[in-house]
Amino acid sequence: MFLQLTSLIVDADPGNRAELAQYLAHHGLVVLGGVANADQLSQHLAKGDRPQLVVVNLDPGAVDNLRHIQPLIRQYPDISFFTMSQVLDPNLLMDAMAAGIREFVPLPINEPRFKAALERLAGQHGLKSKANIVHVVPSIGGVGSTTVAANVASALAQKAKTVLVDLDLVRGGVAGAFDARPRYTIADIVSSGENIDRQVLDNALINHEKSKLSILARPDLPEDSQRVTQQGLQRMFNLLGRMFDYVVIDSMMSVDPLYASTIHAANTHLIVMQLNVPSAKNTERYVGMLRRMGVDTNKIKIVVNRYVKKGWDIDPADVEKALGLKLNWLVPNDYKNAIAAINYGEPVVLRAPKSEMGESLIELANFIASAQVEMAKAA
Ligand SMILES: Nc1ncnc2c1ncn2[C@@H]1O[C@H](COP(=O)(O)OP(=O)(O)OP(=O)(O)O)[C@@H](O)[C@H]1O
Ligand SMILES: [Mg+2]
Repeated sequence: MFLQLTSLIVDADPGNRAELAQYLAHHGLVVLGGVANADQLSQHLAKGDRPQLVVVNLDPGAVDNLRHIQPLIRQYPDISFFTMSQVLDPNLLMDAMAAGIREFVPLPINEPRFKAALERLAGQHGLKSKANIVHVVPSIGGVGSTTVAANVASALAQKAKTVLVDLDLVRGGVAGAFDARPRYTIADIVSSGENIDRQVLDNALINHEKSKLSILARPDLPEDSQRVTQQGLQRMFNLLGRMFDYVVIDSMMSVDPLYASTIHAANTHLIVMQLNVPSAKNTERYVGMLRRMGVDTNKIKIVVNRYVKKGWDIDPADVEKALGLKLNWLVPNDYKNAIAAINYGEPVVLRAPKSEMGESLIELANFIASAQVEMAKAA
């Protein structure tokens, strides 16, 4: 989920402020700035620069700091305050709640709980995005992730409003896979100013009639990928999340901040691999990173592309053991239909839905949709 809450940080330590700012930005918040203490906060708010959320690190000196913040909580009832502390004294907690603190966040931060708190707050501010975000990540070049993303998105689009976004900003081939020639691209949207211009977005979304899919292409000029900023991207996803049921992202294996915030927002990560050593190794490295980033492993789905029953380089059972995850889906190798799809600019699920590859990809889309329903129920 992508949020667009505005926030301000209060922390005596500049290093902590910078770290927290980065953390909040990764979670899709717009960080307006940081101040050292309650006095500075008071001056800042008096200037009219009012965030929706103020995150206060109460340490060191939690009791005193809470006392100093208290009048501001009363003075600005439309601002939500989160306080953080390593001190878990029941009296402090009670005082914080009595003062009108929205959430007390024990340090170190418990990632899922903190995320849930942010989502609650976003929901209250009417920012909840309804879309399910499917993040498709290639483990090596040419593995077939664009094929998987284009086909899954096309299959989902038959039943729900779906947009496919090309986040392979330099080499991406999403528009090509649909034989589309965009006039505007993602670069025009995210660099169109403070707020995303709805008109520009509407112009840039390609409506692919046969698939009913909306498509957002990568920039035409490679250098224009530099116009894509993390904040711009978040604003764009926030808007798309409210317009569509599914946002499918043809992504890259990257931890650049652009991709890190996508990782945190995604409901499903489809990692596309083939049964060979380089692909399996990279899949293992990426899954390890997702785990370290606190991503729920239920969200990770491994898709083996170009599967052949005989003649793989490595045993599927060995890959499962190394990953500690099941291989969730096997897409058969089908050179003929894969090439025809490229030549005709039309995904296999539309051109050859009854082929083995077409059926597999349609069922993969159904699998993702039902896995997301299950996860939503469990949440
Ligand atoms: N299941 C399949 N069977 C046979 N060929 C396939 C299959 N899936 C993809 N291909 C072919 O593999 C090639 C690479 O596919 P694709 O462009 O989808 O990969 P990619 O991972 O997006 O590559 P890139 O690194 O360029 O982004 C294409 O020629 C495609 O037609
Ligand atoms: Mg690709």
